[in-house]
Amino acid sequence: MKSAIILGVGPVRGLGAQLALRFAKLGLHIVVAGRTRENLDYVVADIKNHGGSAEYFICDASREQQVINLFESTSDPIDLAIYNVGNNTPGSIIDMESSYFENSWRVGCFGGFLFGREAIRHMQPNKSGSVFFTGASASLRGRANFSAFNSAKGGLRNFAQAMAKECSPMGIHVGHIIIDGIIDGDKIRNRHPKIYDQLNSNDMLEIELIVATYEYLYRQSPRAWSFEVDLRPSTESW
Ligand SMILES: NC(=O)c1ccc[n+]([C@@H]2O[C@H](COP(=O)([O-])OP(=O)(O)OC[C@H]3O[C@@H](n4cnc5c(N)ncnc54)[C@H](OP(=O)(O)O)[C@@H]3O)[C@@H](O)[C@H]2O)c1
Repeated sequence: MKSAIILGVGPVRGLGAQLALRFAKLGLHIVVAGRTRENLDYVVADIKNHGGSAEYFICDASREQQVINLFESTSDPIDLAIYNVGNNTPGSIIDMESSYFENSWRVGCFGGFLFGREAIRHMQPNKSGSVFFTGASASLRGRANFSAFNSAKGGLRNFAQAMAKECSPMGIHVGHIIIDGIIDGDKIRNRHPKIYDQLNSNDMLEIELIVATYEYLYRQSPRAWSFEVDLRPSTESW
């Protein structure tokens, strides 16, 4: 059985969890990884209830040995690896502690390097596999009061592009998906209910449609690979 590793899995109505469910339905064994066991337990149970195969692995994306161990956790050949980690880190530059900026970079960018490196070390012998990174509006532009997040996601995008160029001769497909807008999921509903109440459903990205794009990239033939897709709701100003 081929496996997929998805790092950055949170609540069940989040992108990471829904990616895990979709790729389990396609027949992959899924390793769901993140820092919070309760969330991972729930996602694994959901996959198994739908007839899929999954296990969880506790992993902090910014810790090198933990990421190495994550990729050693499955003996099945790894066909897909998704780096979905990313917590927004707002704050004005004038007030920002250097440790806050550094931590944002560690999670948003450095963790992507650790993850990408381990993915290709495991995929190279088979000369195949897909490695996808989740981006945000921040991947493309700086915005006042979001410098830490913008820097991390911008760095991740350039890293992913370099990796795509290095890895395509190895037969490994690297992709970057830019989520340019608010995802209609647990995060906005639970953490920002007042903002959520003011939005129409058309103002937010539907998770299933984002997931469909990852599946589309995963199914692409090496004769016509995309590196990047950007997704936004029609009402988003950009
Ligand atoms: N939500 C949005 O509106 C939105 C918009 C644009 C782009 N995005 C991007 O989409 C992706 C998914 O976002 P989402 O909001 O739907 O979240 P999600 O997929 O539900 O969960 C992502 C999970 O990453 C985990 N994480 C954070 N820091 C980590 C670390 N150091 N190591 C391992 N895991 C870590 C968090 O779980 P733990 O804290 O439990 O570890 C979080 O729940 C992110 O890359 C985000 O930047 C989201």
